[in-house]
Amino acid sequence: MGNNVLEVLRGVDLIIEEGEFVAILGPSGSGKSTMMNIIGCIDTKTEGDYLLDGKNIENFNEDELASIRNDKIGFVFQKFNLLPRFSTLHNVEIPLLVRGQNTKTAKVTAQKYLEMVGLGDRMHHKPIELSGGQQQRVAIARALIGEPELLLADEPTGNLDQKSGQEIIALFQKLNEEGNTIIMITHDEHVAEKAKRIIRITDGLIYEGERG
Ligand SMILES: Nc1ncnc2c1ncn2[C@@H]1O[C@H](COP(=O)(O)OP(=O)(O)OP(=O)(O)O)[C@@H](O)[C@H]1O
Ligand SMILES: [Mg+2]
Repeated sequence: MGNNVLEVLRGVDLIIEEGEFVAILGPSGSGKSTMMNIIGCIDTKTEGDYLLDGKNIENFNEDELASIRNDKIGFVFQKFNLLPRFSTLHNVEIPLLVRGQNTKTAKVTAQKYLEMVGLGDRMHHKPIELSGGQQQRVAIARALIGEPELLLADEPTGNLDQKSGQEIIALFQKLNEEGNTIIMITHDEHVAEKAKRIIRITDGLIYEGERG
């Protein structure tokens, strides 16, 4: 910022293995989203090394980073980020259409993923006709349809009431049991406790918590 260097993350030394379900827990402004953006190849670090799936993405250009984001990572956001004018089915199938899959297969696969998140009977609804928790489940189906190596969720329960939030976490637990690697960012201790491992972050410094 001008002549001032703003250090956001410092002392991040961390390995997350395939198949883990990790919560990154910290107060507002501690650097959680910054860390998520680096993990998700949305932003780049200024110092240190970051290896994703064993590869140092240091010298990747914008196109290569975009294709990594597209192939390897499924994103879930606090505000769902669904396309309001389209049906839930279309929202979920879009990642496959972007990859050039034919529309028929994409539709069938999208149905399968909507059923998996318990929304088989809401395929033709628009996002606004769904509850917040249901919208987040649509977003999760959309994140998973491309079979990403990593599901990255930034405050996925932040806009939900407690019960819907618990449903989303239960879904994450089920997905993790089925082999999905999940990194979930939260400032909520109770939400974090549902993960298998908690990484605490304060003022850009991380330290590991207990494994549960
Ligand atoms: N684009 C930016 N330019 C300058 N400073 C930024 C930028 N983005 C974030 N910061 C600063 O970096 C620090 C960490 O922000 P970050 O968004 O990572 O926090 P967070 O832990 O996700 O917080 P919250 O829980 O409120 O979402 C904050 O001090 C913030 O002001
Ligand atoms: Mg944040």
